[in-house]
Amino acid sequence: MAHARLIDGKAAALRLRAAVAAEAARLTTAHGVVPGLAAVLVGEDPASQTYVKSKTKAVTEAGLNGFEHRLPASTSEAELLALIARLNADDKVDGILVQLPLPKQIDPQRVIDALDPRKDVDGFHRENVGKLWSGGQALVPCTPYGCLLLLRETLGGKLAGAEAVVLGRSNIVGKPMAALLLNEHCTVTIAHSRTRDLPAVARRADILVAAVGKAEMVKGGWIKPGATIIDVGINRVAGDGGKHRLVGDVDFAEASQVAGAISPVPGGVGPMTIACLLRNTLVAACRRRGFTEPAL
Ligand SMILES: NC(=O)c1ccc[n+]([C@@H]2O[C@H](COP(=O)([O-])OP(=O)(O)OC[C@H]3O[C@@H](n4cnc5c(N)ncnc54)[C@H](OP(=O)(O)O)[C@@H]3O)[C@@H](O)[C@H]2O)c1
Repeated sequence: MAHARLIDGKAAALRLRAAVAAEAARLTTAHGVVPGLAAVLVGEDPASQTYVKSKTKAVTEAGLNGFEHRLPASTSEAELLALIARLNADDKVDGILVQLPLPKQIDPQRVIDALDPRKDVDGFHRENVGKLWSGGQALVPCTPYGCLLLLRETLGGKLAGAEAVVLGRSNIVGKPMAALLLNEHCTVTIAHSRTRDLPAVARRADILVAAVGKAEMVKGGWIKPGATIIDVGINRVAGDGGKHRLVGDVDFAEASQVAGAISPVPGGVGPMTIACLLRNTLVAACRRRGFTEPAL
């Protein structure tokens, strides 16, 4: 019988989406502005198509404008950069999302560099990365920001001084997560594939964020009793009857016997990512126009 508290990302995401919708409606009433998100999809990758579809659906449900740009897999880098330039200049567009991965003829870094940083709602542009680490109004990557919101809710905002260990150092999750936790005054360790004695490092954590992409790698014995666990991993493993099921990077059955609180997969970080994309689009719309931004 599990005793860890379940961190309900689905419910938290619904609350955030409702708050974004309310703030967007206020913005429209007060200033006649409807925040707009342009989603750019190059090629026919089925997973990417699903992501873009669900993002656009969430955008319109929140009362924002969604603009989808679907380009063939043969699109050249120059053609994509030309579209980015048009979206940068389009006043109706507050956020631009370029769905990754891109076909191999296109350098993703060159595309990210071409984004207007004020419209970079994924928070991947170097200007936003620099601001996140050095201070300033950054747009922050959605997944780690969603993790931070879950942690604030779970720990009642008491993050200062906590030992936080982030497993994974990607630009999309691990590094920005570490920066956010540092900004909250946690003592932060970033661990990765070259870290020696990962279980011992993980056991130091009051807050453990797992973002490695290895199914159920984090075992119960890696966890400090009472720790708060955020599981970012999304891994497809074989399930019953030839089907697949999703599991995280944490062995939930074992970890929930030891942890104080734990986010499940699915239903934890995943729903927060899309909610934070809506939040970032709203925030970008306010900042670009010099309006006071909502505290979401
Ligand atoms: N919930 C969401 O919305 C969401 C969003 C984004 C990603 N994700 C999921 O989160 C996971 C991580 O994503 P990502 O984009 O950050 O992945 P990534 O770019 O592949 O990075 C994985 C990181 O984990 C480290 N790592 C890999 N194997 C390890 C091991 N055995 N021991 C210790 N560290 C190890 C790698 O270390 P090195 O740097 O040393 O190689 C790397 O830093 C994936 O499962 C992904 O699907 C979920």
